[in-house]
Amino acid sequence: MIKIMIVGFGNVGQGFFELLNARRDELGIDAVVTEIVDRRRGFIRNPGPEILPDARAGRQLGVKVDPEDIPRLITESDANVVCEFTDLNIRDKGEPAFTYITTAMRSGKHVITTNKGPVAFHYDELMELSRRYNVGFGFKGTVMAGTPSFNVLELLPGAHVEYFQGILNGTTNFILTKMHEGLSFNDALRLAQEMGYAEADPSLDIDGVDPALKAIIISRVLGWRHSLDSMEVVGIRNIEMAGNGVVKLIAYADEKRAFVKPMVLDPADPMAHVNGNLNAIKFKLDTLGSLIIIGPGAGRVETAQAVLTDLMSIVRRYGLR
Ligand code: HSE
Repeated sequence: MIKIMIVGFGNVGQGFFELLNARRDELGIDAVVTEIVDRRRGFIRNPGPEILPDARAGRQLGVKVDPEDIPRLITESDANVVCEFTDLNIRDKGEPAFTYITTAMRSGKHVITTNKGPVAFHYDELMELSRRYNVGFGFKGTVMAGTPSFNVLELLPGAHVEYFQGILNGTTNFILTKMHEGLSFNDALRLAQEMGYAEADPSLDIDGVDPALKAIIISRVLGWRHSLDSMEVVGIRNIEMAGNGVVKLIAYADEKRAFVKPMVLDPADPMAHVNGNLNAIKFKLDTLGSLIIIGPGAGRVETAQAVLTDLMSIVRRYGLR
């Protein structure tokens, strides 16, 4: 049996729990969530679907946990896969998620995360640990939720990426779309928060940090070494809608440079028509030319899809059953 421990049971964790329960038989895997640990909701073993309403309401589900005990619970768990779904924290460079992930790997557990911080700030170390302990490390959900992004390159062996460019943040794209329709910045932001697209700290979206971290993650997968310190990152806080051009918050990277900034797009550019909370990415490839993928980049089921994608690829690669 594949035993899964979930660390962080907010929207993404709940969405994955539901999707796994609904699709387990169809996928032909004997995978069960055996433990959930969450700072607010507590520690619970062998959870059933009846926990979801209380989890959604943020109520305590099981034994209270001291956050300092979480690494010990991870080490002692007999799960073989740890799904890390805690919130993004850039002040501490992805902690405590980084500690949770490395603790899981060091105790021989495969890891799936949707948290951009640890991956963007500690990519090399995480890759090295996953090799050393021979465990899988999936992080598809950090970029464009379940919509294929960097993982599509696995289908294109030998192709070289010259650059990529994308709309990688749903919240700001939603705000810009609504502002084009005449809404004020603040009203549009409030709506984006109500819809659940925004980060817990929405300044990470508005100031462009979230799409910058996503561009860093894609870059690292491609072997390019960009970081927040080396990138120009401009958000949409002071944006003004002027003229008829379509303004989008664009993330760009090639091997030498990377940036995030608002840009006026030509109406003939397909990216100019990616509206609302949708994301898009264009890979410029030497073999195919431009490949553009458009799809949702946030949301409960949408992100749960990414976790399922990672889980199935670990199941296949490591022969879990
Ligand atoms: N706040 C992010 C966004 C969520 O708006 O795109 C998904 O990473």
